[in-house]
Amino acid sequence: MSATFDFSGRTVVVVGGTSGINLGIADAFARSGANVAVASRSPEKVDKAVDQLKAHGTTVLGAAFDVRDIDGVKTGLQTFHETLGAFDVVVSGAAGNFPAYAKDMSSNAFRSVVEIDLLGSFHVAREAYPHLKKPGASYIHISAPQAFLASQLQSHVSAAKAGVDMLTRSLALEWGGDGIRVNSIVPGPIAGTEGMARLAPTPALKDAVTNSVPLKRDGSPDDIANAAMMLASNAAGYINGTVLPVDGGWHLAGYSAMMMSLADAFAALQKST
Ligand code: HXC
Ligand code: NAP
Repeated sequence: MSATFDFSGRTVVVVGGTSGINLGIADAFARSGANVAVASRSPEKVDKAVDQLKAHGTTVLGAAFDVRDIDGVKTGLQTFHETLGAFDVVVSGAAGNFPAYAKDMSSNAFRSVVEIDLLGSFHVAREAYPHLKKPGASYIHISAPQAFLASQLQSHVSAAKAGVDMLTRSLALEWGGDGIRVNSIVPGPIAGTEGMARLAPTPALKDAVTNSVPLKRDGSPDDIANAAMMLASNAAGYINGTVLPVDGGWHLAGYSAMMMSLADAFAALQKST
């Protein structure tokens, strides 16, 4: 269930906003009255997301670009600004992930995740900055527990997302004087998402994840959207540079337990092939 917020007439941009958690965030802002723009690589996913978001009756735009391509990011965000005006809220959450041991990853495999998650986040921040409302904008990174909890099979994601959280803190310092607040949200295990399909691919692993959450349930996209809307609202007017887990308490122990189960399942699979 969404909490009640009113973002009528506000402009909200969600990069990586065409599926999963980030589409859930875009949808919640649109339901709350915001004009919304979403972007990702696949033109088909962009079109489908735009159709879904338009059902809420506000202005909706889409653009297809790869966050690794700074010129594409620049052009896409300029287009959003021309039609929707200054950005009140930007959510930057494009990411890539697959489970793999560092010793088995190619240079390009490690690079692809770091370039999507970290360099891509920098590109979006750099090119969004001229279009942000000053003062008053809220800028939100979508991070992950890997940023501060080490685990097997996730060296690339951990390195990248730790960088994203330090980017959050650095920008909070640099942009604070403009009246722009910058924060990270760290989702827990969110049911039905691509991320969980990749990291908990079997029913047994899915059950282990749910049991490892102190609140004994997986999260939903609305759980993360509610946190994003809270951070973007006046209620969070003095919250800046925070890394906020929204995970039922999972970061206290559950994430590590889940990744140990995944590593065991991975090792068993490797032995059998
Ligand atoms: C080892 C792999 C691999 C795997 C790809 N690679 N999958 N290596 N194990 N399972 C290698 C490839 O062989 C290649 O290296 C390099 O990675 C780049 O692969 P490409 O397919 O060419 O890259 P690209 O098309 O840019 O795709 C990026 C991607 C892909 C990350 C690999 O999976 C993707 O587009 N993902 C986006 C969606 C996604 O991941 N969503 C989940 C986000 S969840 P070589 O050497 O062969 O060239 C998340 C956190 C979840 O981020 C947290 C839950 C707790
Ligand atoms: P998802 O559905 O795969 O979402 C990723 C989004 O990013 C998609 O819209 C994807 O669309 C886009 N994207 C990927 N690579 C891109 C690129 N190079 N350029 C532009 N856009 C790109 O995954 P999700 O599981 O919902 O994850 C969303 C966010 O939450 C991620 O930041 C992830 O790290 C974080 N997270 C997820 C979980 C979880 O439980 N799922 C937990 C913690 C953190 P295209 O394919 O069209 O590009």
